[in-house]
Amino acid sequence: MAKMEVKTSLLDDMIGVGDMVLLEPLNEDSFINNLKKRFDHSEVYTYIGSVVISINPYRPLPIYTPEKVEEYRNRNFYELSPHIFALSDEAYRSLRDQDKDQCILITGESGAGKTEASKLVMSYVAAVCGKGAEVNQVKEQLLQSNPVLEAFGNAKTVRNDNSSRFGKYMDIEFDFKGDPLGGVISNYLLEKSRVVKQPRGERNFHIFYQILSGASEDFLCKLKLERDFSRYNYLGLDSARVNGVDDAANFRTVRNAMQIVGFMDHETQSVFEVVAAVLKLGNIEFKPESRVNGLDESKIKDKNELKEICELTGIDQSVLERAFSFRTVEAKQEKVSTTLNVAQAYYARDALAKNLYSRLFSWLVTRINESIKAQTKVRKKVMGVLDIYGFEIFENADNSFEQFIINYCNEKLQQIFIELTLKEEQEEYIREGIEWTHIEYFNNAIICDLIENNQTGILAMLDEECLRPGTVTDDTFLEKLNQVCATHQHFESRMSKCSRFLNDTTLPHSCFRIQHYAGKVMYQVEGFVDKNNDLLYRDLSQAMWKASHSLIKALFPEGNPAKINLKRPPTAGSQFKASVATLMKNLQTKNPNYIRCIKPNDKKAAHIFNDALVGHQIRYLGLLENVRVRRAGYAFRQAYEPCLERYKMLCKQTWPHWRGPARTGVEVLFNELEIPEEEFSFGRSKIFIRNPRTLFKLEDLRKQRLEDLATLIEKIYRGWKCRTRFLLMKTSQIVIAAWFRRYAQQKKYQKIKSSAIIVQSYIRGWKARKLLRELKHQKRCNEAATIIAAYWHGTQARRELKRLKEEARRKHAVAVIWAYWLGLKVRREYRKFFRANAGRKIYEFTLQRLMQKYFLEMKKKMPSLSPIDKNWPARPYLFLDSTHKELKRIFHLWRCKKYRDQFTDQQKLIYEEKLEASELFKDKKALYPASVGQPFQGAYLEISKNPKYKKLKDAVDEKIIIAEVVNKINRANGKATSRIFLLTKNNVLLADQKSGNIKSEVPLGDVTKVSMSSQNDGFFAVHLKEGSGAASKGDFLLSSDHLIEMATKLYRTTLSQTKQKLNIEISDEFLVQFRQDKVCVKFIQGSQKNGNVPTCKRKNNRLLEVAVP
Ligand SMILES: Nc1ncnc2c1ncn2[C@@H]1O[C@H](COP(=O)(O)OP(=O)(O)OP(=O)(O)O)[C@@H](O)[C@H]1O
Ligand SMILES: [Mg+2]
Repeated sequence: MAKMEVKTSLLDDMIGVGDMVLLEPLNEDSFINNLKKRFDHSEVYTYIGSVVISINPYRPLPIYTPEKVEEYRNRNFYELSPHIFALSDEAYRSLRDQDKDQCILITGESGAGKTEASKLVMSYVAAVCGKGAEVNQVKEQLLQSNPVLEAFGNAKTVRNDNSSRFGKYMDIEFDFKGDPLGGVISNYLLEKSRVVKQPRGERNFHIFYQILSGASEDFLCKLKLERDFSRYNYLGLDSARVNGVDDAANFRTVRNAMQIVGFMDHETQSVFEVVAAVLKLGNIEFKPESRVNGLDESKIKDKNELKEICELTGIDQSVLERAFSFRTVEAKQEKVSTTLNVAQAYYARDALAKNLYSRLFSWLVTRINESIKAQTKVRKKVMGVLDIYGFEIFENADNSFEQFIINYCNEKLQQIFIELTLKEEQEEYIREGIEWTHIEYFNNAIICDLIENNQTGILAMLDEECLRPGTVTDDTFLEKLNQVCATHQHFESRMSKCSRFLNDTTLPHSCFRIQHYAGKVMYQVEGFVDKNNDLLYRDLSQAMWKASHSLIKALFPEGNPAKINLKRPPTAGSQFKASVATLMKNLQTKNPNYIRCIKPNDKKAAHIFNDALVGHQIRYLGLLENVRVRRAGYAFRQAYEPCLERYKMLCKQTWPHWRGPARTGVEVLFNELEIPEEEFSFGRSKIFIRNPRTLFKLEDLRKQRLEDLATLIEKIYRGWKCRTRFLLMKTSQIVIAAWFRRYAQQKKYQKIKSSAIIVQSYIRGWKARKLLRELKHQKRCNEAATIIAAYWHGTQARRELKRLKEEARRKHAVAVIWAYWLGLKVRREYRKFFRANAGRKIYEFTLQRLMQKYFLEMKKKMPSLSPIDKNWPARPYLFLDSTHKELKRIFHLWRCKKYRDQFTDQQKLIYEEKLEASELFKDKKALYPASVGQPFQGAYLEISKNPKYKKLKDAVDEKIIIAEVVNKINRANGKATSRIFLLTKNNVLLADQKSGNIKSEVPLGDVTKVSMSSQNDGFFAVHLKEGSGAASKGDFLLSSDHLIEMATKLYRTTLSQTKQKLNIEISDEFLVQFRQDKVCVKFIQGSQKNGNVPTCKRKNNRLLEVAVP
């Protein structure tokens, strides 16, 4: 719960008190205890009003994260626990929103955390101000100027490992929107004596160690340096390395920062060359050399170092060597040269080193300013951050001129703090119309006066001594001080006779003591005059000016002989006084914000809180007075609105809302609470509370009331919750009942409705059907009428269309004919003009040519004249296909004719007979193919020549067409008997083969039919006309080897004699007339027992079977 609570005031979760004005009782112990308590709880910041006390935690705390930045952003100062961010935010917002220039004054001892605080302020402002590429670059450059200046201006001291050895004031400039534009840095009095000598346990400036640790071998070689620290006299050896500091890494950071800030490469190089030269100067050593006139003279021991310095800086070696040996004093027209003894030579060397370094430092600041200066001339708002060296007190009498100056500066800052705080306080009281009560506090103006008074001030005395002719030493200066200041309350010395401190043995004779606001400091007077003079022999500055190294030359403008100025330069003291005065003036124009840094212990250690040390700081910083002044009768003040907001629950009228003005509300509230009138006062915008007790009482009441309120809220909440629940349930019940009733009614209604709908639908259906029928009928009538009309219209239309088409066709035909006729006419007329006719001619010609060629080719390729030759040349052109075929046919017919023409009449006859045979038997009788090759001889038996047949010959006087032996088949048993078969023009004769007696003679007219089988046999039957004379014995069944010839000749002869075609029946079963009986002759497939001869057998009365193999 506690975590979720949102803080609205610094009073919430307070450890001790966050604001010292609330401390009760207010005394030193309670003050320290409060700080300690907070410190132990890691609360390092505490307020005194608007002043922030910061205790160095000496350890990283997680309170600077970006989340913290966001938390403090745009919040009121007293809203959250004390933080440096709250102050930064307040300052930034009043700069941006109220147009008030701000300055942030950070004071405190060395090591108290001033520099860190200044960086925190800058980083906070950088985080919350505007963003954008340009703005970011400005921010980055401003932030990165810190590491550069720290490297050259900070050193490890016994108090602080990173002690600022110069004062720094930085003005950050913003535009009207609050975006940073740039900045200006002012530096104050670098502690240059550190360059040549460092107190025990301290180091020279960081940069020397950084170069030697971090630079590459190559770079070191260029700078003519060696890595070993012990090689250099100017580097104190006892603490060359610092715990937790990585010089090499820091060197890289510095180089990077220089680049970001805008240093060119050659500038960086020059800077490091000067640093190297300073370091090497320390290694130049002198030895005494006496001269005749008794004057001491010095000589450089080893010139090697000098040579390297001269090479590095481009100075003529002899010039520098002379500058270390002589000193020229010019007065008016005179020039006097004196030699330098060893001590003076060392003094000159160190002076040169110090000057070189401090001028380099100033040059760096100028160069950085050049980079970070605002680029516009618009009016700027300014936030100044002052981080000046803290008050410094060395033990014993080690405090010198530098400490004097530093402490003077702190004195002035305290002064301005007193002035501004009081002034502001006073102004607030006046503003608020509250009566002002005077508070006693120590005003250090008197100490400032002791130091800076133009006539009697210590600085004025010192200047006077420095300028006075005659012997001037630190002692004469002290004497003078004793004379002038002896009576001053804050000045202590044992020198003067009437001194109050004659018996104070803690005060050595060569010292004086000042009671600073922060404590007594004893200053060793030795070196004051010298340091104030800050003398650099002119010979040295002139030697430097002669350097070819442009940076060194620029650092010593007074070395230019053309600009010799015999006037003494202003002393260090007066310069410092002037710059402090300017600073103070500057600060007074701005709205101050204080950060007072406190160091918790001397050991640079975390978690240690040294009460005595802190007490001392509290005292000299005047913090208690600060609280008192702040309280000035009123410990606490708050604007009316937040006050009313915080406490309004304590009064019925103001809780929970107060409608009137806040002030009246607070009045009502305070009256109601019966707070005694003397305890508070009403300002114009704020309420002032006199005693913290009252505030705490209010706080207690508030706490109590908050508890009551919590209970009340809980009670009301519970009541509300129960009531809401009840109401909810009640309404739910009503809703459910309503829904149920609705549902029941709905169901009933639905039922009635559906019944009604059914009844209704039947009636409607019946009505609709009736109507539909009528409508359908009507529709059909309409449709029929429409169809009829459509058909009629169609017919009409088609008729019309036909007529129109006919007309159109006719018109078209006329047009076509007309066009053709016209075309023809035109073509005829113009044919002679057209070359196209040539085409036709060429075509015809080509065709002729092709035909010619074709025929000529054909002539060569003609096949033989044999009708059975199947060869015919291939067709050369496709278009001649039909011609070619026709030609083939004609040629074939022609050669057949040719062939036929060769035949004699005899041959013709034979071929005719053969043709006849072919027509009669081809594909009908199996015997036929064998007969084709046999020539038809007809008279196989030479009847006329053979005497055996003389009788037969005599009996037949006609021409014999066939004479051949045949087998006559016996009708009774199927056996064959040989007979001579004769065919004459008119008759068929059968005669005995031996005797030649004619057995039967049948006129051709009586032969009706010849039958035979389809098989390969020679059987045949000659059927005779029934009733004829020859027919009495029945038909002849014969067999002959020349069946085909005999049947053919019989057919032909019958045809020529009787003009009737002889019927030739080819069948494997036929009937033969035997006397009165008819016998069936049947041809069957027989075995080959008797070779190829067919056998004939009488099977029964009716059947004669012929087996054909
Ligand atoms: N807020 C802080 N958080 C953590 N450490 C801190 C803080 N402030 C200071 N320190 C530590 O204290 C050391 C000294 O702080 P810083 O250098 O700011 O002191 P200073 O007041 O500037 O001293 P000088 O006057 O010598 O310059 C820092 O180096 C750092 O280690
Ligand atoms: Mg510092």
